[in-house]
Amino acid sequence: MYNFDEEINREGTDCIKYDGRQAFFGTADVLPLWVADMDFRTPDFVINALRKRLEHEILGYTIRTDAYRQAITGWLARRHGWTIKPEWISFSPGVVAGLTLAIEAMSAQDEEVVLQPPVYTPFFDSVRLTGRRIIENPLKIENGRYTFDFDDLKRKITRHTKLLLLCNPHNPGGMAWNREELTELVDICLKHNVFIISDEIHSDLILGARKHIPLPTLSEAAAANCAVLMAPSKTFNLAGLTTSFLVIRNKLQFKKYEKRLHTPHLHMGNLFGNIALESAYSHGEHWLEELLEYLRGNFYLLQSTLQQSAPGIVPMPPDATYLAWLDFSSFGLTDDELNTRLIQAGVGLNRGSQFGQQGTGYMRLNFGCTRATLKTALQRIADAFGG
Ligand SMILES: Cc1ncc(COP(=O)(O)O)c(C=O)c1O
Repeated sequence: MYNFDEEINREGTDCIKYDGRQAFFGTADVLPLWVADMDFRTPDFVINALRKRLEHEILGYTIRTDAYRQAITGWLARRHGWTIKPEWISFSPGVVAGLTLAIEAMSAQDEEVVLQPPVYTPFFDSVRLTGRRIIENPLKIENGRYTFDFDDLKRKITRHTKLLLLCNPHNPGGMAWNREELTELVDICLKHNVFIISDEIHSDLILGARKHIPLPTLSEAAAANCAVLMAPSKTFNLAGLTTSFLVIRNKLQFKKYEKRLHTPHLHMGNLFGNIALESAYSHGEHWLEELLEYLRGNFYLLQSTLQQSAPGIVPMPPDATYLAWLDFSSFGLTDDELNTRLIQAGVGLNRGSQFGQQGTGYMRLNFGCTRATLKTALQRIADAFGG
C-alpha cells in the first residue's frame, strides 16, 4: 500500500506550485491548489531507476531504446486496449512543445486552427504565437457537463481551417469524451480535411465509469487523421522531466513532425525522462490503481463538503484527472473579485478565465494533494463562500 496521506514539504525545491506562489498570487500565504502537478511522492520504482542510473556518474547524450518503445506499446495495449507499432512513436520535450511543433509542421502561417474553449491555456498561445489563427468552437453545457457544439463547428470551418486541437480527457472540465461525441467530431474533420491534434496527457487518470478512448481506436480513418500526444508526466508526477511522446500513424504527417522536431535538435531527449518513462510504464499499474482510488476519495470529499457547506459552488463531475472545475457564478462576482476573495481565504486556485472567456465565473482546483491539505482548503473556501 502506498501512503498518499504523507505530507511532504515541497517548499524550497524550486517547484512552481509552492515556490511560485508569491509571483502568481502576490502572496506565499495560500494553500496552492493550482498548477497541475501532484503533492505525492513520485513512485519508488521510478526514483530507484533514476538513482541506479546516477550511480554511473556520466550523464552524456542518450538514445531511446527498443525497451523504451516497448514500455510505451505495452502500456497503451494494457491500459487503453490500443495496439500501436513502435515506428509510429515520436518524441517531444513536453506535450505543449510537441503540440506547438505539430502545429508548425502540419499547418502554415495564417491558416486556421480550431480550439474548443474553455480549454488548457497554452493551446491559445501555441496557435497565436506560431502565427496561425484561432477559430473558437466553444463547448456547450448539457446536463451539467460539457459537450461539443457541432453546428457551430460546421458553421465556422473554412477552407483555411487545417487543424483542430482536441483535449481528451478535457482540462479543465474533466470530460472523457464518449464514442458518439468523438465519432461525430472526427466525421466533420474528415469531411473538411481538418487534421486533429489530440492531447491525451490526462488519459491514464480515469476516475469515473467512462473509459478513455484514444482517438485512433475509433476507426482506420480516424487513425490516419490524427496525432496523439501522451506522457507519463501527469500520471506519475514527473512533469519536471519534460518527456512526452506522439503517436502518428499517418506517414506523411509523421515525417513532417519529425523534420520540425529534428531541425532544432529537440529529438535528443532527456536521459532521466527516458528512464522514468520506461520504468513508470513497465511497473506503474499497481501504483496507479492506488492513486486513482485516493483521487476518487478526494473528489468525493470535495463534492460532499461543498454540497453541505457551500452549495453555491457547483463542481462539474470529472470523468478523469485531478482537476475540479468549480462554478462560482451564483455569487455574481467579477473574475478579480472572485480571485481576491479566494486568496484572502488562503487558497490559490486557477482563474476560470485563464481557459478562455467562457471560463469566467469558474475556478479550477487541483485536488492532487493530501486529503488533509484538501480538507483545510475546503474549510477555508466554505468559510468564505458558505452560508
Ligand atoms: C491538457 C494538457 N496538456 C499539456 C499539459 C502540459 O504538458 P507538458 O508539461 O508536458 O508540456 C497539461 C498540464 O497541465 C495539460 O493539462
